[in-house]
Amino acid sequence: MTYRAPKGTDDILPPASYEWVTAERVFLDLAERYGYGLVLTPLLESTELFSRGIGEATEVVEKQMYTFTDKGGRSVTLRPEGTASVVRALIQAGGVVGTFKGFYWGPMFRYERPQKGRRRQFSQAGIEYLGEASFDADVEVIEFGYRYLEELGVRDVEVQLNSIGDGSDRSDYRAELTAFLESRKGELSEDALRRLYENPMRVLDSKADADVVAGAPTPVDHLSPAAAEHFDGVRAGLDAAGIPYRIAPTLVRGLDYYNRTVWEYVPLNFEAAQSSVGGGGRYDPLFEMVGGKPTPAVGLAMGLDRILLAKDESDLQPALDAFVVVADADRRVDAQALVRTLRRSGFRADSAAGERSVKAQFKAADRARAAKALVVGEEWNEGRVTARDLATGEQQPVAVEEIETWLTH
Ligand code: HAM
Repeated sequence: MTYRAPKGTDDILPPASYEWVTAERVFLDLAERYGYGLVLTPLLESTELFSRGIGEATEVVEKQMYTFTDKGGRSVTLRPEGTASVVRALIQAGGVVGTFKGFYWGPMFRYERPQKGRRRQFSQAGIEYLGEASFDADVEVIEFGYRYLEELGVRDVEVQLNSIGDGSDRSDYRAELTAFLESRKGELSEDALRRLYENPMRVLDSKADADVVAGAPTPVDHLSPAAAEHFDGVRAGLDAAGIPYRIAPTLVRGLDYYNRTVWEYVPLNFEAAQSSVGGGGRYDPLFEMVGGKPTPAVGLAMGLDRILLAKDESDLQPALDAFVVVADADRRVDAQALVRTLRRSGFRADSAAGERSVKAQFKAADRARAAKALVVGEEWNEGRVTARDLATGEQQPVAVEEIETWLTH
């Protein structure tokens, strides 16, 4: 009997996983530079948190949740996203005092039809800026995602931006949109027909109904003066920050907690079933939707699986700075001490375990993707090793006390 990873999930092994380590490192570094602190929440939450927070009429809640009853009879769900959990955690901790800036990283679960870039377990890295109503917060979060993609080397990314206004702006708009959709009823998909009366804005999000939606009245044309002013502020802030964007009037996003600003990052030359490598929005209603005090908030989540697919194929960098090769069996202990010293000095260093031929050790060095090999042989008695650049094959003697300097060029 052999076992395979469940459908729609992936094993990520070296060397591919080096890219994941980089994606994580760059994200953590950027989050800290922008003043966000790590938030760790459980991978499981009570089902109701998501059905209330994300919305009963959304694809995610209707079709994609991994929900089960635990041994205590509680309905729990593997998190399909991180925002509801962060908000729940802050409410549980007593609410947001002033502002709170948090980031997270980890696996999310959605029961989707698996495809390239659409997985049942996938990774998101997100930031949430809580307690701030100013459009400055929206601009910071949008810029953050853009810079992240830039630093990772994802080229030609378009920020698609929209404002969906506030719930209170929406009653007139909703009526207008419903009337429009009713007039095109015969052309709508089954899902759209069902959502038409529950939440007509969800129809704008439906890829299957794109032709009808193209002619529909859009939320951005129905903003209240306050929401319109907020959106002007977001756009002026993005212009000042040098972040290019395109207004996408039918972009509403697939989750119910949003109001006002919503956006997605779409790499222009990325062919995958789903093209957005990240998205976010303002979600002032969410705290109250899940039982908290009114708290303005804005955030984003980047989809790591898709980002790594969209990224330019980068040359694989060496995974080790040095591989120490034992050419004289009597020098094994010295060679091991050298590895230990290098590791303590911050170098990535390794050697083969057990007794192996020199040839086998060089093979192991290549397999480990080492940049350099340091051969410990007879010349150790004179305080030297033979150092070889594994990319060029060049070889030279290096004094033991010079090794660290030599490795750094
Ligand atoms: P979302 O648009 O549902 O937003 O997901 C964000 C990103 O996660 C997507 O742009 C995509 O790259 C990735 N993603 C989503 N589903 C999958 C999947 N099945 N396979 C691979 N990648 C996927 C949210 O989740 C919100 N919580 C974002 C947010 C944070 N809004 C405010 N704060």
